[in-house]
This record gives sequence, structure tokens and C-alpha cells, in this order.
Amino acid sequence: MARTYYIKTYGCQMNSHESEKLSGILSQRGYVEADSPENSDVVIFNTCCIRESAETHILGNLGIIKKAKERRPSMIVGVCGCMTQQSGAAEKLKKRCPFIDIIFGTHNLHKLSSYLDAAEHGKKVIDIWEEDNGIEEGLPVKRAGNICALVNIMYGCNNFCSYCIVPYVRGRERSRTPDNIFADVKSLIESGYKEITLLGQNVNSYSCDGVDFAELLDRLSDIKGEYWIKFLTSHPKDISEKVVSVISKKEHLAHFIHLPLQSGSDRILEMMNRKYTAREYLNKIEMIKSYLPDVGLSCDIMVGFPTETEEDFVQTLNVVEKVRYSNLYSFIYSQRKGTPADIMPQVPIEIKKERIDRLIKKQFSIANSIAAESIGKIYTVLCDGKENDNFIGKTQSDKKVIFTGSNSKVGEFSKVEITEANNSKLIGTEVR
Ligand code: 5AD
Ligand code: SF4
Repeated sequence: MARTYYIKTYGCQMNSHESEKLSGILSQRGYVEADSPENSDVVIFNTCCIRESAETHILGNLGIIKKAKERRPSMIVGVCGCMTQQSGAAEKLKKRCPFIDIIFGTHNLHKLSSYLDAAEHGKKVIDIWEEDNGIEEGLPVKRAGNICALVNIMYGCNNFCSYCIVPYVRGRERSRTPDNIFADVKSLIESGYKEITLLGQNVNSYSCDGVDFAELLDRLSDIKGEYWIKFLTSHPKDISEKVVSVISKKEHLAHFIHLPLQSGSDRILEMMNRKYTAREYLNKIEMIKSYLPDVGLSCDIMVGFPTETEEDFVQTLNVVEKVRYSNLYSFIYSQRKGTPADIMPQVPIEIKKERIDRLIKKQFSIANSIAAESIGKIYTVLCDGKENDNFIGKTQSDKKVIFTGSNSKVGEFSKVEITEANNSKLIGTEVR
């Protein structure tokens, strides 16, 4: 019988895609994916450390795996990703969870096969690299689906926002060559993928072989086929008119931009080291809307950053009201060891909770009114699932749509007229 593996992924799309590479390596070794960890021969936790809550959750789940390994001692347990890459974290984890067989970081996931060679012979492995030895191309990838695909265009971050652990665990920015990216995207489109999401911590600073991000988008969207391209994440200081203008001209580029604001207070933005003011951010939004009047905007906002006052927070609410995001991801600021904000004066948790509730409420009513405005409109929807007789899909701006129709197919685009909005969910019927 084939040996089995299970990967538990925490965190962002970057991690999800890296788990697809780990899956590729395991499949190449003859392992077959299982649907639960309990009876798997290899269990890997691909971790996140962006907030304390992520780490607490992972440590709790590792406790469950410890019990599973007691029942099945031949199980190989591996832990990798952002959490293990933090300074001193691997050693601490080894002490706290001695049952773990392999601990590796963000720069050496391509080494998994050699770590398994050792672990299969009963050896424990801890291997954390300070940085990578250049971008590792050509790794096998076993993708989670066959409609939407993630493609890295760059790794790392140079921005050092004062709250953020990412630059410490993901290293400095490095971009893949446009030729390698083009080859990946072309082959995905040719094999039927309909949505390609380009990934980078700060895609707007993509630069390689004399090609910038706007030029990369321009080239990729010349590929023939039926698909759309999205990208994550843009930094407000770097998103340029050149990029937005390319999006407005090329039909394959989705009218969707995720543009994290983090805070609407200039004082807090300065302390965060974000390098823009609320006015500059709003000017970018205006520029985007002037090129793409139908754009879907989404955003990350953090509440309770050190020293944030009621007045600072109200400024954030004001920006949210002005922009009208179709999706908002809101977070309570979480202290991260080694970042500058960790030693700044902190805001009490009750205040943070009260503010996030107000932010969520405000966004709820905005999302509802955006959804209500969609009634009667016709959208292109990528159908990515079916539930009973209803199709489930998403618009360019990532809005979920539930619809009926006799010509639609999972994995294809449909034109859908919105007939109803239930909270922020859109309900519609296929039109021909
Ligand atoms: N605490 C809370 N949220 C954070 N983020 C990044 N660092 C922290 C932190 N220390 C949020 C930011 C970022 C998103 C991916 O996670 O909003 O855009
Ligand atoms: Fe973190 Fe800022 Fe880099 Fe985004 S741009 S990954 S928030 S440091």
C-alpha cells in the first residue's frame, strides 16, 4: 500500500502555494495525499507567525499530532514555514515538542526530500537557513485545484513595516525572471486554469531582467486563452499609474486591487513606517477609480496599533467610508518579538476589541449596500463549484455569486445577472 501524507497549511496564499510544492515533492517520492493526519505516514505543518493567535493555534494542533504519533510511532512529523524561521524558534520548538522529526524554514523547503531520507532512517533534522541560495526553479507542484492557480513572481519584503514579522522570516525581495513566470502562466492557461493569481509580498516592486510589474502584466496578458489574472499584494506607496493603465487596457487583467491601508491616521501610518499619508492613499484610490470605474477594492486594516487613540481610529473609519471596499480584512494588532512596534506603548485589549467590532459593523453595512447596488447588473462569473442545483462562482473582484443556469459549467465563465443580494452574498441567474 502507498505511503500517505497530510499537510496542514496556516496563513496566506504564499504558504498555500508553498504547500503545493511540498505536495509535489512528496508525490514525487511516491506518497499519496490523505484526507486526515491521524493515519498518515508523513504529517507536515506549514506554519504562519503573522499574529500570536496563529502561533497559539498551531501549538495547540501540534499537541493533537503528538497523541496521533504516540498511537502510530512510525509517523514522521515535519514543521516548516514562517514560525520556525523566527530567530531561536526552531530550538524552542524542538524542546517543547521533542516528537517532531523535521524542522525547516522558509528558505529550504526544496530540501524536503533529503530531510525525509534522514527521517525515514530514524534521524531528527533541524535545518534553518538564514537566506536562500537563489530562487529554486523547477520544483514539482501538486496543485490543490484545477481552476484557480497561484504563481509566485517574487519572494521576500524590504519594507519593514514596524509591526510586521514578514521581512525577518521571508528575507529580502527577489524576483523570478519574466521568462520563468511567463512559461508557468502559459502552461497553466493551456492546461485549462481560468484564474491565475500572481503572488508577492509587494508585487509593485517586481523587477527582473529590465522588466517592471506593469511590463510583466502586459506580457502575461498577451497569452491567448480564456482566463483572468489577479495579483496580491500591492503596497500603496508603490502601485503606479503605469500598472493601473495596463489593467485598464488588457481584457485578461481583473479589475480588482487589494490595497492594504492598515490605518487612516497619518500619525499611526508614520509610526508603522508605511511611507504614505491617508491623503496620498486616497489619491491613489481616485487614480485607480478614474481608470477602472468598476474596480473591486479590498483592504487590510489593523486596529489597536501602539498608541492608537479614538481620534486615530475614527480617521481609519473615515477612510473606509470614503473608499467603500468590497472586502475588508480587519485584524487586531498583535505584538511580534523583534519588531520595532513590540516595544512601543500598547493599547489595552478591550479597546482593541471594541474598535474591531465597530470596524466590522461599518464594513458590514458598506458591503451590504455595495451588494444591493449590484442587483440588475450583469457580471462575468468564474464558476468554481456546485451545491445541489446551484452554481457557485466569483466575480473579478472576488465577490461570491450563487446562481442557476442550464449552460454553465464548473471551471467555465458565465454571464450572470444579479437578482438578489443576501447580506453581501450575490444571487443571480445565467444570461446568454
Ligand atoms: N498584528 C496584526 N496584524 C498584522 N498584520 C501584519 N502584521 C500584523 C501584526 N503584527 C496584518 C496586516 C497585513 C496582513 C497580511 O496582516 O494588515 O496586511
Ligand atoms: Fe509586512 Fe509591510 Fe512587508 Fe507587507 S509590506 S509584508 S505589511 S513589512
